Amino acid sequence: MNDHDNPKESGNKVPKGITAFFIFCIVFVLVYVALYTPAISGWSYYTVFEKKMADAKAAASIKGAAEKQSFSGDEAAIAEGAEIYRSSCAVCHEADGTGGIGSDLTEELKFGASEENLYESIAAGREDGMPGFKQQLSDTKIRKLIAFLETLRK
Ligand code: HEC
Repeated sequence: MNDHDNPKESGNKVPKGITAFFIFCIVFVLVYVALYTPAISGWSYYTVFEKKMADAKAAASIKGAAEKQSFSGDEAAIAEGAEIYRSSCAVCHEADGTGGIGSDLTEELKFGASEENLYESIAAGREDGMPGFKQQLSDTKIRKLIAFLETLRK
């Protein structure tokens, strides 16, 4: 049987679903092209890339600052801090921190005992005879020293 040119076929309508899908495809392409064409929407891989790099950098610097801030409880750092304390601080504050020329570091502190307070006392010094150490000691060394001082206060 041969019915490929059956005249009845020419009257068939395209099914509604197919028409809807066809229109959907056209709309999708138009929207897609509009959204991702730099000249139309301003979108660009360069701006996406730059934003990602900036975010990663910001995250890294926050992490870096947090690492610098505290060696609290870090055994190796405390041992190093103890060494620094013995050579730079014990003359005035005594080996056990109970004070002599310098104040007692195991008791309540006049200038505060938070890490930032201690950092300032050590780095900048205090008016009544506490020398500033920021020339001699690096930021990291002072942070380790603080971790050691915390052990004296427990
Ligand atoms: C030349 C003697 C001397 C040396 C060395 C010295 N200090 Fe002091 N320190 C003092 C004196 C004196 C004070 C009291 C300052 C004041 O009351 O204004 C003081 C105060 C402090 C304070 C503040 C105490 C408080 O009550 O708030 C801290 C913390 C401190 N010293 C830590 C250290 C550390 C850590 C070192 C070693 C890096 C050190 N000091 C080295 C003499 C010294």
